[in-house]
Amino acid sequence: MKMSEEKIFFEVSSKGLTIINDDFLAITLIPENSIDLIVTSPPYNVDIHYNSFKDNISYGKYLGFTREWLTKALKLIKPDGRMCLNIPLDKSKGRTEAGFQSVYVDIVKIAKEVGWKYFSTIIWHEGNISRRTAWGSWLSAKAPYIIAPVEMIVVFYKKRWSKLENGISGITKGEFMEWTNGVWVFSGESRKKVGHPAPFPVELPKRCIKLFSFVGDTVLDPFLGSGTTLVACALLDRRGIGVEIDRKYCDIAKRRIIKEGNIFQSKLL
Ligand SMILES: C[S@@+](CC[C@H](N)C(=O)[O-])C[C@H]1O[C@@H](n2cnc3c(N)ncnc32)[C@H](O)[C@@H]1O
Repeated sequence: MKMSEEKIFFEVSSKGLTIINDDFLAITLIPENSIDLIVTSPPYNVDIHYNSFKDNISYGKYLGFTREWLTKALKLIKPDGRMCLNIPLDKSKGRTEAGFQSVYVDIVKIAKEVGWKYFSTIIWHEGNISRRTAWGSWLSAKAPYIIAPVEMIVVFYKKRWSKLENGISGITKGEFMEWTNGVWVFSGESRKKVGHPAPFPVELPKRCIKLFSFVGDTVLDPFLGSGTTLVACALLDRRGIGVEIDRKYCDIAKRRIIKEGNIFQSKLL
């Protein structure tokens, strides 16, 4: 795939890895029908303090943004391409007259409306979660809070679920048996270690990539953040494109791909 050089922040041609520093909604560098798999976690709209991006727009605007980027992503994916979308179940802050926001339900509905076909949902249980501070009415039925220590990984496809051609997955029997069970238990990533306020662990894109793509396929993360999806691509011999609006995070992603993706010995660097 040939891309114009304009917005390319970092590229390792020998591995087919590219970081684009741009707004995913504005981007024109990625050809339509060229992506095999999208793995991403979009901004959650829960007032996370990103370097430049505002994560506290109104819920209505957030759903409008969701509609726009899901429509664009659908154009870029191949007819037998898939998407693994990591999103929260609920939004527990900011209750409105209509109640709390069921983020998962709303995003799945929009994805289907813009043309994505729903396949399945994997529930990711962060085994080590210990962030709980609010119980509502303690030991009373007056107004207790329910908090599920889980995130969703929703799997969609464009036109057909069965891929048109066969290839090498590189997945082991043990991994296949464990990961096709739709409850995944593994720890989250340390924000401090990575230098980003909302990273997912490499384990998440690793599982999605090995289950849903072949070696040599092209994976896109339209909200690259600290570069986790491209680290997984580097380790699993997939081509990878990451788009990130914030230059500081592009820089973190570049450093992580070189270090954690084991590509520092590449002749082209
Ligand atoms: C939830 S984070 C992704 C974290 C990533 N999965 C990781 O492991 O580091 C969402 C990212 O999307 C970026 N972002 C927000 N709006 C964007 C846009 N329109 N285009 C590209 N990136 C955007 C934010 O700067 C943020 O880094």
